[in-house]
Amino acid sequence: MAVSGMTSALEPEQIVRLEEDGPAVVLLDQRRVPHEVVELRCGSVDELVVAIKTLAIRGAPAIGIAAAYGMALAALRGDDLAAAERALAASRPTAVNLPWALAAMRDDPTPARARALHEEEVDRCRRMAAHAAELFAPGARALTHCNAGGLATGGYGSAVGALRAAHERGLLERVLVDETRPLLQGSRLTAWELEQAEIPHAVIADSAAGSLMARGEVDLVVTGADRIAANGDTANKIGTYSLAVLAAHHDIPFYVVAPTSTLDLATADGSGIPIEERDPTELSDRFPARNPAFDVTPAELITAIVTERGVHRAPYAESLA
Ligand code: MRU
Repeated sequence: MAVSGMTSALEPEQIVRLEEDGPAVVLLDQRRVPHEVVELRCGSVDELVVAIKTLAIRGAPAIGIAAAYGMALAALRGDDLAAAERALAASRPTAVNLPWALAAMRDDPTPARARALHEEEVDRCRRMAAHAAELFAPGARALTHCNAGGLATGGYGSAVGALRAAHERGLLERVLVDETRPLLQGSRLTAWELEQAEIPHAVIADSAAGSLMARGEVDLVVTGADRIAANGDTANKIGTYSLAVLAAHHDIPFYVVAPTSTLDLATADGSGIPIEERDPTELSDRFPARNPAFDVTPAELITAIVTERGVHRAPYAESLA
């Protein structure tokens, strides 16, 4: 189904929702954006698991919200809830929002509970974006990686939410958008969201970031996160670590913006974060390939982590606790 009314910011229910009549989890198919804006109906948990694995819905908070709706769907269908939870939990390994949301649904696998989780997540995004906007100086030229927008959070966005808030305050000159190899979440999804928000932007090859920093064209880097360990080490889309190293070399602040549902205080540091290895054919259908989908940025390369609670600085073991 084509989605109408796509000229302004996406409403949360346009990104993912539960339809009880059917029933189905309905999501905007992110594999086809920006060329097509169409919905995908998942009438079973198995179909939703495929949608998550193939990135029809992706981004740490959005995966968690989809899984919450998946548990409500399983309950409405009278499915085995333990089996549904196992299947959803195994769909992607790195984003901690997935087990977080599944745990939150365990005692109350209802549509109302899933919708409340969704609403709370979008509210967290708006609050952290307001905190993050305080870090922008007038005329700021930002660089971002992957897509940490409304598509990735179920509405508004984390890193892109920060860009929206800074833009609304008149502080943001423009955004450089890493294309984000190999699946192009930046050049497809983030650029599309920034276009809709009328925020000036330009897509760049991931490998152009260093030279543009050296030319003085980047004032700050803002990214999202999939899992933040207790010491502040942060897993995010592959290429984030390289950006943080480059930012440190050029003395450019590197900010991570993520809701507290992305904190994993039970994991001491980044070495304990599972890193998803995706199908090598996403890179090459002919030659052997390695395809780690995430990397870990050590806490010492992160200038600040922004959550809905505020701006956290090192030592993160204390400020995130
Ligand atoms: O593989 P993806 O597209 O799910 O990876 C997403 C990211 O790395 C995002 O930056 C992260 O989930 C934060 S989303 C607010």
